[in-house]
Amino acid sequence: MRIILLVLALASASAGAGAFAQAPIVIKFSHVVAIDTPKGQAAERFKQLAEKASGGRVRVEIYPNSQLYKDKEELEALQLGAVQMLAPSLAKFGPLGVKEFEVFDLPYLFPDTVALNKVTEGPVGRDLLKKLGSKGIVGLAYWDNGFKVMSANKPLRMPADFKGLRLRIQASRVLDVQMRALGASPQVLAFSEVYDALQSGVIDGTENPPSNLYTQHMHLVQKYLTVSRHGYLGYAVIVNKKFWDGLPGGIRSSLEQAMREATTYEKAIAQRDNDLAMEAIRKAGKTDIHVQTAQEQAAWREALKPVQADVQRRLGKDLIEAIHEATGR
Ligand code: LMR
Repeated sequence: MRIILLVLALASASAGAGAFAQAPIVIKFSHVVAIDTPKGQAAERFKQLAEKASGGRVRVEIYPNSQLYKDKEELEALQLGAVQMLAPSLAKFGPLGVKEFEVFDLPYLFPDTVALNKVTEGPVGRDLLKKLGSKGIVGLAYWDNGFKVMSANKPLRMPADFKGLRLRIQASRVLDVQMRALGASPQVLAFSEVYDALQSGVIDGTENPPSNLYTQHMHLVQKYLTVSRHGYLGYAVIVNKKFWDGLPGGIRSSLEQAMREATTYEKAIAQRDNDLAMEAIRKAGKTDIHVQTAQEQAAWREALKPVQADVQRRLGKDLIEAIHEATGR
């Protein structure tokens, strides 16, 4: 009898070990924006696709709205393996030591997302993602947000209107130079801190695509908004390299497929989300919306010329030329 019990105990222990080996692979995906943004929705779509494609072997836990980490901390957390996946904006890779991504912040570099996609989906985009390898990171995809608007509590028509304004920027040297060229004083702040800083008057204004502005309620504390489309904001979806390389091959390829599908979805909804956000800002009635005129744009372009020179000096002429070649401009 004792022997039978022992055999039964051993059998159930080994079944337990089997069950343990099948414990789900958890991907913690942290991001800083609201769920109802292009990035937020695509993260949710990736979760659905990845969990289904892996037959339940993978569980994706999404932590939106800086719930776990703010801008800078989330990159450190990824490198330490505390989270496995992020989608930071391309403006935020400089502090990681891959400043070339800041080229995407160059004012008026892309006329539209068609031109942008030619860069991200071509050799320039691929080479940039490869640079992340030495930082213990694998770049999986580029996601869109859109073109930025500029906001403040005074009208922003001509460069002279920026004089002395404290404007929030992401931690990008190109954005720093951009704001200085317009005569403003750039203030680096984490995304999650922008609303409070605007409300309390610590800063005067900011720039972001409408979907970010609206979902953080920034329009409620910004009286004026200029639709300037002076710069682009997009993302790279990235994973911890050690985690990624350590995945069983079959799982990795099903996650790659899920990412491809989530990316197609993301790119299809980004523009519409931004249009809807702009409409909602208009309806809220708190912000005067001004669409930049051709004459105003010419003045901004002129004022922003020094940014081009700074980028060429710091990031290299070749990179800019490769981008111009890809976009055919
Ligand atoms: C910002 O900090 O303004 C944006 O990068 C936030 C985001 O992730 O879209």
